[in-house]
Amino acid sequence: MDSTTRSVVVSGGGTGIGRAIAARFARQGDRVTILGRRTEVLRATAQEIEGAHPVHAVAVDLSAPEELEQAMDHLPERVDVLVNSAGRRGTPASSETGLKAVADRWRQDFDNNVLPVVLLTEVLLPRLARPGGRVVSISSIAALRGNGAYGAVKAALLAWNHTLAQQLGPDGVTANVVVPGYVAGTEFFGGAPSGDELARRRDQTLIGRVGDPDDIAAAVAFLASPEAGYITGEFLNSNGGALCGR
Ligand SMILES: NC(=O)c1ccc[n+]([C@@H]2O[C@H](COP(=O)([O-])OP(=O)(O)OC[C@H]3O[C@@H](n4cnc5c(N)ncnc54)[C@H](OP(=O)(O)O)[C@@H]3O)[C@@H](O)[C@H]2O)c1
Repeated sequence: MDSTTRSVVVSGGGTGIGRAIAARFARQGDRVTILGRRTEVLRATAQEIEGAHPVHAVAVDLSAPEELEQAMDHLPERVDVLVNSAGRRGTPASSETGLKAVADRWRQDFDNNVLPVVLLTEVLLPRLARPGGRVVSISSIAALRGNGAYGAVKAALLAWNHTLAQQLGPDGVTANVVVPGYVAGTEFFGGAPSGDELARRRDQTLIGRVGDPDDIAAAVAFLASPEAGYITGEFLNSNGGALCGR
């Protein structure tokens, strides 16, 4: 790899926001590795988005430590940019009620949204380019305005990122978080929203449209760029004004 080609790892890169991020880096000529649990989805995306270099796909459940350890041989030896986009909603609440159901829901949201980010970052720490490496993780507007366990675990990423930035700063590596508002065209909500729901989401913004995965990819690309080297331990909202100034 020549010294100007960056090695970029994007978790959740098979679909939605992660796919748009991976496609953007691939178009720029970077070497991109995408991670997710579904091999076929990853393979198809890798073929569709490849640029100057083939996109490398690695199927792994990032919430499972043993599986991730086994996948290490398939991940790049040097990582210039790590983007943590993998995350998902818990399965719909069962009819079960009571404390066990509450505990299950919280554990599920934690496993789905915190562990994939923390575990992947942890195993790739020794491979991050020093100086100049970049870690960008995806949280959610729910972290700032609430949404039960999901919002709480997405807020955990903001606190975690502070420690990561402190740890990596002396090595010249930055760690930041992008905080999207509602983004259409992903698998996150399990299907297209109704017209009413889309209008409700649109009306929450100041600029009169809902988010697109490319909006989030643009924010990630900026934080991953050499020009953003003096920004670390921060979060950047991208929500069309649905929530201002936090
Ligand atoms: N869409 C929105 O409105 C919105 C708003 C704010 C924040 N976000 C956040 O944005 C991120 C991307 O979501 P999205 O909207 O692009 O939804 P998406 O299309 O469902 O993308 C999520 C990706 O994460 C992967 N993933 C989930 N759990 C994983 C695991 N344990 N191990 C490996 N890969 C895993 C999924 O692939 P597999 O299923 O194949 O594993 C999928 O490709 C998420 O963190 C989400 O919380 C989304």
